[in-house]
Amino acid sequence: MSGIFSATAVACANIALVKYWGNRDDALRIPANGSISMNLGGLFTRTSVSFQPSLPFDELILNGRETTGKGLQRVTEMLDLVRAQTGLVHRAEVVSENNFPSSAGIASSAAAFAALALAASHAAGWTLSEEGLSRLARRGSGSACRSIPGGFVEWRAGTRDEDSFAVSIAPPEHWDLADCIAIVHAGRKKTGSTEGHALAPTSPLQAARVDDAPRRLDLCRRAVLGRDFDALARVIELDSDMMHAVMQTSTPPLLYWQAATVEIFRAVREWRASGLPVAYTVDAGPNVHVICPREVRAETERRLREIPGVGEVLVAEVGGAARLAD
Ligand code: DP6
Repeated sequence: MSGIFSATAVACANIALVKYWGNRDDALRIPANGSISMNLGGLFTRTSVSFQPSLPFDELILNGRETTGKGLQRVTEMLDLVRAQTGLVHRAEVVSENNFPSSAGIASSAAAFAALALAASHAAGWTLSEEGLSRLARRGSGSACRSIPGGFVEWRAGTRDEDSFAVSIAPPEHWDLADCIAIVHAGRKKTGSTEGHALAPTSPLQAARVDDAPRRLDLCRRAVLGRDFDALARVIELDSDMMHAVMQTSTPPLLYWQAATVEIFRAVREWRASGLPVAYTVDAGPNVHVICPREVRAETERRLREIPGVGEVLVAEVGGAARLAD
């Protein structure tokens, strides 16, 4: 089937420079604090949605495989929001592919739900502003709201559905940064972000982290707008360390790092002290995102590959907004 009930969209992954961790409202994904990220150009999800009268259930084909369970459930919840808004009753076939290896352990939910929100709303004939799309993507995965606008993006936390969405603070060409992602092979499966967010309030450090967030957001926004790499390095490492301190002091505690993760922290700090502009940040997993100006990415990549325990190194530049594709 083609025509108004189907659409394809593409959205990039993003890396948080100031992290989202913990919700004020878990069901609506209203975050405890605002966050800032950079879209990762070249690491994207392409998703096609086709609402079809003949389908008894929603179907999800993820990277070529029929997917059921929790993954399908989350997709159905987003499609239900679109159906409720538009009055469309058809079930949909959703075909989604990441162009980066799933074994790489890159969080794919941001790109996936940004692409799904755009493709599903468009397929259903619901025209949304960028703000509206960001709000819809947020319902699928919080960080997905930041993969709707382009370049450097800030998610203003807000306090309710209407005022919690992301906006671009600078376009991709504003600052030629790169993200060299050192893939560290994890020994065991991580606790997913959704479960992790729910544990954040059990850490006695979370309140301090959230109270200090406006200050870190301000430092990060200024560093990005002023292209001040040293200031950016200081704030993103502090923010990542603070989130992991919360994770490690939650009940039960979450420890995402591997030995190689810590080796990379040490190396990055040494390299920076000796003049190479690099800074680390880590999401809910063991892989380390090493942010650097584009001109030093090859050198950074080379040095990362020499660290024992580092497998592949993926390199991304600053990416654009989510978009419709043919
Ligand atoms: C550590 O957006 O993946 O990557 O809303 O439950 O899908 P859900 O969580 P998610 O959380 C991302 C957490 C993080 C930090 C960040 O990206 O800001």
